[in-house]
Amino acid sequence: MELKQLIQGFSKLSTHDKIKAVEANIPQMDNVEGMLKSFWHSDANIQKILSELSENTVSNFPLPYNVAPNFLINGKLYMVPMVTEESSVVAAASAAARFWAERGGFTAQTKGTQKSGQVHFRFHDNVSKLLQHKQSILEQLRSRTSSMVENMQKRGGGITSMEILDRSNEINHYYQLHVVFETADAMGANFINSVLEECSNAMGEYFDNNDDFIKGAFEPIMSILSNHVPGCTVEISVQCPVEKLDHVVSGVSGADFAKKFALAVEIATKDIYRAATHNKGIMNGVDAVIIATGNDFRAIEAGAHAYAASSGRYSSLSKATVSDGIFQFTLTMPMAVGTVGGLTKNHPLAALSLALLGNPSAGVLMQIAAAAGLANNFAAVKSLTTSGIQAGHMRMHLPNMLTQLGATTQEKEKALDFFKGQTVSHQKVSEFLKSIRN
Ligand code: MEV
Repeated sequence: MELKQLIQGFSKLSTHDKIKAVEANIPQMDNVEGMLKSFWHSDANIQKILSELSENTVSNFPLPYNVAPNFLINGKLYMVPMVTEESSVVAAASAAARFWAERGGFTAQTKGTQKSGQVHFRFHDNVSKLLQHKQSILEQLRSRTSSMVENMQKRGGGITSMEILDRSNEINHYYQLHVVFETADAMGANFINSVLEECSNAMGEYFDNNDDFIKGAFEPIMSILSNHVPGCTVEISVQCPVEKLDHVVSGVSGADFAKKFALAVEIATKDIYRAATHNKGIMNGVDAVIIATGNDFRAIEAGAHAYAASSGRYSSLSKATVSDGIFQFTLTMPMAVGTVGGLTKNHPLAALSLALLGNPSAGVLMQIAAAAGLANNFAAVKSLTTSGIQAGHMRMHLPNMLTQLGATTQEKEKALDFFKGQTVSHQKVSEFLKSIRN
């Protein structure tokens, strides 16, 4: 590749020219422009909002917006919005929500909403001097950031603690300013990063202006929030006497079902291969709510997996126990969400989702998303330990398969009817279509 092939100033091109550039990359495809434009929003104002959310926007990429009713959480019923493309996720969440609503519902507790961020720096002078000046540095940082923090304090947030940590035994001369924040109902990423950058500047000035330190003692590396948020967790559980699980699988007692279920969850606490898939089942539900409410699912994913590995061994985020005839299934996970600011108000459907949930606080939204996670986890492990995952999964996937195989509406109807009592597989569906076409 020659460097002159690189596109210069692409972001400054008009949308039309950007589309032409995309088109030039797929000459084998007809009407690329028409296809991209067909997904533009018919309301130009809404399209403008969507385009302004990102960069180099040439179209929209719609995903299904779904709702799962009957989530009873701490005695309150919710209809939960879920954006996902995986057909079985919403069905599984809805079924599990109803199942547990009939057995007392979900009990949830938000354990905290604190996040942290770090100024990573190197210090090239005598460490004892750094320690001597520690209090005065921290005081200086508090005063330098006070006006930035003021607004957040009015909303019940602010800086909770500040600490300088010596990590020089891990990396030469490496230290950290570790700041803990309370961000109330905001996710707070921009607030945290702005405060950290100000702290880094203030530290630089502190060392430069103090004759106790040699020139260049402070070497800033980076200032950034952390997506590892063990101080921002939610715990949610369902429980019932094992007899109330008697009818989950015909012919199997509730006690036996619960025992096998708990064993399957225990495997996920011990085996990384199973743990990753088990946690993916949880994230199926969590991410769908996070996306529907305009939150950052990458941040939630990163936090969840860091938390799952924080004991030193990657493990299941949920636990199941059977004790004294009571089955209990609990999920504890971090979840840095916001219900004010960011996309939550800018994206019309995110705002609608929050309205549907009664405009919850961040703490309550954490509980709702966790409930969707636990519901999906319950549904998945229930299927896995009973009928197997494919029966339900493939049935849900049947309409997609039929679309891929070019089935007409009439053929689809016939197939959906035919496969009601049958095992679904790609080959069987394809054979069925051939047979009715003949
Ligand atoms: C599929 O999206 C999720 C599952 O694999 C989760 C699990 O195995 O627990 C079914």
